[in-house]
Amino acid sequence: MQLQLCTWKEVEDYLQTSRGIMIPIGSTEQHGPNGLIGTDAICPETIARDIGERAKVLVAPTINFGMAQHHMAFAGTVSLRPSTLMAVVSDVIASLARHGFTRLYFLNGHGGNYDSVRAAFSEFYAQTALSASPVQAPRCKLMNWWMVRGVRKLSRDLFGEAEGMHATPSEVSLTYHAYPQAIKNVSMSPRLAASGGFYDAEDFRQRFPDGRMGSDPSLASSEVGEKILAAAAEGILADYQAFMRDV
Ligand code: NI
Repeated sequence: MQLQLCTWKEVEDYLQTSRGIMIPIGSTEQHGPNGLIGTDAICPETIARDIGERAKVLVAPTINFGMAQHHMAFAGTVSLRPSTLMAVVSDVIASLARHGFTRLYFLNGHGGNYDSVRAAFSEFYAQTALSASPVQAPRCKLMNWWMVRGVRKLSRDLFGEAEGMHATPSEVSLTYHAYPQAIKNVSMSPRLAASGGFYDAEDFRQRFPDGRMGSDPSLASSEVGEKILAAAAEGILADYQAFMRDV
């Protein structure tokens, strides 16, 4: 069930049966020589929509822009400042809370969003907690899709150290499964990209000239993407259901 494809009356009816909603959140940023700019948004969106259809979970429109300043030296990247992302997340929470949603499950596709989104949750909770007439804030959870056990095991078994940190074969595979028309055949060297830390965008490009970090996404395939989607959907649905059950 996609919020975008519902009428307001259908949303009212849904709220009689469930107070939970899943919100995919991603990024629009370079993903190496063969990875799509939309990778971090496409992955959580694909997983959330799969769950939404199979388990009648309402899925909000994807927040496609994230905190990606470190990728700005590569063409096509669009970044929000941490403060902008926090404001976006905070307004999404406030809007959904007003309609009666009490459990907001943000399915995240980009590690760089983590700190800002968690800080936005804390700001929102602080607003209600410090209010003269406190009300119960909705419960917000942030889950990185690639952290569920089944996905980590699959990535480890299939790719080992070639999984790397950014532009991973797992995420590129998932996007290739979702959009086979966008599969790219690009050769890259060295086979395994460099790893390590970084500071700003210029520093990132100097250290990781083709955009990859520690990965070999030439191993990506649509077939693997299908397996990753199945493992992710299973693990995340179980996590969402536990989040909804928890009183
Ligand atoms: Ni990514």
